[in-house]
Amino acid sequence: MPAIYATAPGKIILCGEHAVVYGKPAIALPVTQVRTKTTILAKPAAIPGKVQIIAPCINLNTSMNELTEEHPLRKTIALVEQELHINALPACEIRITTTVPLGAGLGSSASVTVSLARAMSNFLGQPLPDDSINRITYEVEKIHHVTPSGIDNTVITYGAPILFQKGNPIEFLNILNGFNLVIADSGTASSTAEMVEGVRERWQEDKAKYDRMFERIASVTTQVYEALCNGNLENNGVLLTENHQLLREIGVSTPVLDQMVNAALEAGASGAKLSGGGGGGNIIAVVLPGSVDRVSAALFGSGARNIIVTAISSRNDGIHG
Ligand code: MEV
Repeated sequence: MPAIYATAPGKIILCGEHAVVYGKPAIALPVTQVRTKTTILAKPAAIPGKVQIIAPCINLNTSMNELTEEHPLRKTIALVEQELHINALPACEIRITTTVPLGAGLGSSASVTVSLARAMSNFLGQPLPDDSINRITYEVEKIHHVTPSGIDNTVITYGAPILFQKGNPIEFLNILNGFNLVIADSGTASSTAEMVEGVRERWQEDKAKYDRMFERIASVTTQVYEALCNGNLENNGVLLTENHQLLREIGVSTPVLDQMVNAALEAGASGAKLSGGGGGGNIIAVVLPGSVDRVSAALFGSGARNIIVTAISSRNDGIHG
């Protein structure tokens, strides 16, 4: 029997992170230059039910039963079995590899879960639809991030630019004019769960102040949405820079992230901001085609460890396989 595999992209938050946890809208884009791949190979000669999981990115090579029931990989498989009403797995070997950097705000946890859930349901002969994959991945995101908004699992499952707001239907964006985004990694990993928890503690101390800031972030997100659908983000990049200032005010930026944002702007980016949980991870910059090399060089000069340049349009065919 040939190996079954599925892949999933990474993601970037264009605007609205953190406020989205408090019910405000946010915009996310798939990043197809980084991917997770899960390959499943049947092992008919192995002990019945033996499932071996190999994930070199987290130094894991173990039998599934050695993992706790709440381990994200075991939980993903259990949720797929539950969804498909299957109680026993055929013996198999699951190999998970990823180029999505861990703890960098690029959605590594959701990318792993989407690719594993999809590969496992394919392997069991009953490919699950996107809404089931999304629901399963959200459950597993709760293990990773405690109170996730649901934006990461959604953008990675559907592999297309989205406007996301908790409780509302997902809106797939029709981007009128595509644009170049430079994604620069600060090289410092950070925990989204800890960053979200820190914001929650500060919000609890001064709810009025933080609610006002979340409102202002929501207003910027609405303007970015309008620029994407009816105009041109390249000419409105300043909105992203405004979003960065608000993220600084809620305490999730760092001197290195600020330095990288300033370097991108000085080199001619039309807007720049940190992306994702903050505290490390990535910044993003909207850049005119002629300035990509200059902005990238300035970012490397200001501490970036890795750079991805991606052209954004309506349908970034991010997934499947
Ligand atoms: C993480 O990609 C974005 C945050 O808003 C957390 C979340 O939405 O779950 C920081």
